[in-house]
Parts: sequence; C-alpha cells; structure tokens
Amino acid sequence: MTCPTEDAEEREPGTPSARADAPRAALITGGSRGIGLAIARRLAADGFALTLSARTADSLADAAAELRAAGASVTTVAADAADPEALAALLDWHARTHGRLDALVLNAGMGFGSPIDQTPLRRLDKHVALNFRGAFALVSAALPLLRATAAVERRGTRVIALASLAGLTPEPDLAVYSATKAAIVSLCQSICIEEASTGVSATALCPGYVDTDMAAWKHDMLAADEMIRPDDLAELAVSLTRLSRNAAVPTLPVYRAGGRLVGA
Ligand SMILES: NC(=O)c1ccc[n+]([C@@H]2O[C@H](COP(=O)([O-])OP(=O)(O)OC[C@H]3O[C@@H](n4cnc5c(N)ncnc54)[C@H](OP(=O)(O)O)[C@@H]3O)[C@@H](O)[C@H]2O)c1
Repeated sequence: MTCPTEDAEEREPGTPSARADAPRAALITGGSRGIGLAIARRLAADGFALTLSARTADSLADAAAELRAAGASVTTVAADAADPEALAALLDWHARTHGRLDALVLNAGMGFGSPIDQTPLRRLDKHVALNFRGAFALVSAALPLLRATAAVERRGTRVIALASLAGLTPEPDLAVYSATKAAIVSLCQSICIEEASTGVSATALCPGYVDTDMAAWKHDMLAADEMIRPDDLAELAVSLTRLSRNAAVPTLPVYRAGGRLVGA
C-alpha cells in the first residue's frame, strides 16, 4: 500500500501540516496515574514521544520523571480536561512541541454513583463536562492534526478513548457515568464513519473494574487482585497503534475474567 502524501499547495488555509521526520507522538489526558500512566509507559517503550496532561502539576512531574528515567521523551501540561480553552492550549502545545499526533488518548474521566432520583443535576453536569463534552472538544480540535499526521504515516492515526463496560450495559446507581461512557462509545463509532477516508479511526476501550484509585471504593466487594490490570489496557492501546490503517476497531469490551459477561 502506498502512503498518501500531503501536497502543501493543496492544503486549505489553516490546515496544519505534520512532521514526517519526527517520532510518532501521543497526547494523553489523565496521564499522571492509573490507566493513563500505564498507557504512557507502554507507548513510550514503543518509541512514542508524549504529551501528558492532568490537573495536578506535581503528580505530572513525578510521572514524567519516571518516564524520562526509562528514556522517554515527555512534556507535561497541567490542564482541566473539562475546560475547552485549557484543552485548546494543551493541543496547541502538543502540536508546536511534537509536530504530529499519532494517538490521542482520551482518558481523563470521573465517576460518582447514586440512584437516578438522588442525583443532583450539578453532578450530571460535571460528568458530562469532563467525560463527554471535554473529550468531544479535544477530538474536534485535534482532527486536523490527526488527519495531517495520517497523511504522512502509513499506519494512520488513532483516537483511543476510555469508555467503560458500563457504557455498553449500565450498572445500578451509575446512570450518569454509564450514559457519558455510552456517548463516548457512540463518538468513536462516529469518528470511524466520518473519517473513514482520512486514515483516522477511533476505539472506545470498554473495561470492567480496573485496579486504580478510581476503583478503590469497590474493594469491599471486589478484591484489587481480581480486577483488570492497568497494564492490560496499555497492552491493548499500544496494539491498536500497531494495526494497519485498514483496521478500524470502534468498540473494544474488556471483561474481568470470572466476572459476568455483562456489566463489571
Ligand atoms: N478504574 C476503573 O475501574 C475504570 C473502568 C472503566 C473505565 N475507566 C475509565 O478509565 C479512565 C481512567 O481511569 P483511572 O481508573 O485510571 O482513574 P484514576 O486512577 O483516578 O486516574 C485519573 C487520571 O485522570 C486525571 N484527571 C481526573 N480528573 C481530571 C480532569 N478534570 N482533568 C484532567 N485530568 C483529570 C487524574 O489526575 P488529576 O487528578 O491530577 O487531574 C489522573 O491522572 C477514566 O475515564 C475512567 O472512567 C476506569
């Protein structure tokens, strides 16, 4: 297969170009711990240059120091992934620093449970703002660079979004979280459909309970060592970046062995 090339003269004004000579690059939200950091480690080991983002500068600095000690090229940007202006600045930083975007990992997320009739609308608004609106804003802004990178990279480029099994089959008391993750599943399908000709595709990773800070509240009912490992998600994420551009994987459920094959 020949790799499409981008003719600078044919580019529309404002369309970014991508650096064919730079290492493959990934931008990861929520990259300072948990699943995001596990994905960062694995992508760095595969040669990706990284932009890591999260709200807390200190934990980002710790994560970056660990990755650099292992030889990774990492920059960090503290940003709230619910704030579209902060996300625009994050993307701009990534584009100027790395010159290309091969993998956009939409990982930052939140989840607080309550029955539907005891869920204040402000809780719904916070979930939507981070889990869906922020993710949508970042993808929307990043698509020109993802397309430009796909034009110079034979494997194409990928959006990898952390949804959840709850986005496929809602769990009790997680109606709002489940709905936002279902929206992410739908968004990844839309990206695959709309971007089919550009070399950009998207995958909603849909795991059951993963042993991270976010799932610690569940330990009374489910031991940490029975949960999916963050490294399992990292292994899947890096595998997606190794596929040819001809393979689209819009949804990837990851069940806990021994668990129900629906829900967690
Ligand atoms: N753990 C599970 O069982 C599980 C299962 C299915 C899906 N998921 C999904 O996987 C993703 C990662 O979860 P995790 O378990 O790895 O969580 P985690 O261990 O709690 O880590 C969350 C990461 O996101 C960052 N973050 C949180 N709120 C943010 C915000 N508003 N803006 C920017 N960054 C933010 C955190 O750093 P700061 O706090 O410093 O911002 C941290 O780096 C989430 O989308 C989650 O819904 C998790």
